This record gives sequence, C-alpha cells and structure tokens, in this order.
Amino acid sequence: MRALQPGTIGGLRIPNRIVRAATSEARGGPGGEVTPEAIEFYRRLGAGGAGLVITGHIYVHPRGRHHGLQTGIHHDGLIEGHARLTEAVHREGGLIFAELGHVGSQTMIPEIAPLAPSAVTNPMTGITASEMTEADLAEVIDAFGAARAGPRPPATTASSCWGQAATCSASRCRPIPTSAATAGAAMQHGAPGW
Ligand SMILES: Cc1cc2nc3c(=O)[nH]c(=O)nc-3n(C[C@H](O)[C@H](O)[C@H](O)COP(=O)(O)O)c2cc1C
Repeated sequence: MRALQPGTIGGLRIPNRIVRAATSEARGGPGGEVTPEAIEFYRRLGAGGAGLVITGHIYVHPRGRHHGLQTGIHHDGLIEGHARLTEAVHREGGLIFAELGHVGSQTMIPEIAPLAPSAVTNPMTGITASEMTEADLAEVIDAFGAARAGPRPPATTASSCWGQAATCSASRCRPIPTSAATAGAAMQHGAPGW
C-alpha cells in the first residue's frame, strides 16, 4: 500500500505518506511556552505512525495570538521547547513541520487590540480590528521571518549573518537551518482573521 511507502516533499524524505494535518491544540503555557503536555501530545502522533506531523498554528507575534493556551515562537526563549518537541517526534521516526501564524482580527484574547489588513468586524468576535499601517505589516513580516529562522546570533549586522541561508535585515540575522525549531520546514497559516 503506497500510504505506507516512503515519499518525498522537496528534499525531505518522509518515512510514509501518513500526514497529520495542522490542527491546533491548547497545550501551551501562559507565555506561549511548549509544555511537557505539548511534547507528549506530538510525540504520540509520531509514535502512532504519522510519517509527517504538522503542528497546529504557532503565533509569531504577541498580537497575533489566538488564545491563551496557544504556543508561540515570538522570542528566542521559546525555541528550546520547540526543539525538544521536534526531537520527541524525530525519536519516534517521524518528521515535523511547524505551522506559523498570526490570527489578525481573530484573536480571542480580550487584552489584545486586534490588527488586520482592513478595519473589518470579525464575525466570530464582533470586534472591529484596526487597519494595519505599513510599519505594522513590516513588523509582522519580520516576525514570520524571525520565527522561521531560529535563534538570533550575537551580532546582528547583515555582514555577520551565519552562512548563506539566512534572513537579514537591520535588526534580524538568523540562520534558517537551526530553526524553530521545528523541523524540516515551516509553513504559514493562511486562514485566520486575515
Ligand atoms: C479543531 C481543528 C483545529 C484546526 N486547526 C488548524 C490549524 O491550526 N491550522 C490549519 O492550517 N488548519 C487547522 N485546521 C484545519 C485542518 O487542518 C484540516 O485542514 C481541516 O480539518 C480539513 O480537513 P478534513 O477534511 O480532513 O477534516 C483545524 C481543524 C480543526 C477541526
């Protein structure tokens, strides 16, 4: 049966074609930390035989958080937890992709004043988001790049970026391969609130 045969996505070899679709869970800590419960949850998906596990969406910017139990990757201190989670799935023989997201107008956290490309009322929350400025957009784009790229090295000038696979700007200079931690790849959640 082909479902149990190895496959490839880009240059990555997947041990079988059973893919766990990105599905959000609620196992993060108050600051977006990866908890032991989250690690165990994803480990079990790998142990169950999924050749590829795609995480639920992980917020890249505090203002793009969906709910209070979502995991985040908006600062370097969160990376180690994602790395441990990734290792747990790898130890079970599976691969894992990180899904990165920013929920825009769809945040369920009352303290967050939501941002979105247009000042529309979100039908789920009844709250009208503020229209993003160019600077807001740039900040979110930067947050996605930073989350994808992994920990920031001590020097942050473009000329000192590590290797060739790096994202560089005035404030960011992060290597891609060691990323987030997570995994073989990062994908971007395109649905919520945008
Ligand atoms: C509870 C729940 C949470 C979900 N969370 C995400 C998510 O975090 N990211 C995403 O891309 N899709 C998410 N989805 C969509 C699923 O990945 C999937 O695309 C959708 O359920 C359609 O697949 P199906 O027809 O096999 O159910 C979620 C779906 C459900 C039911």
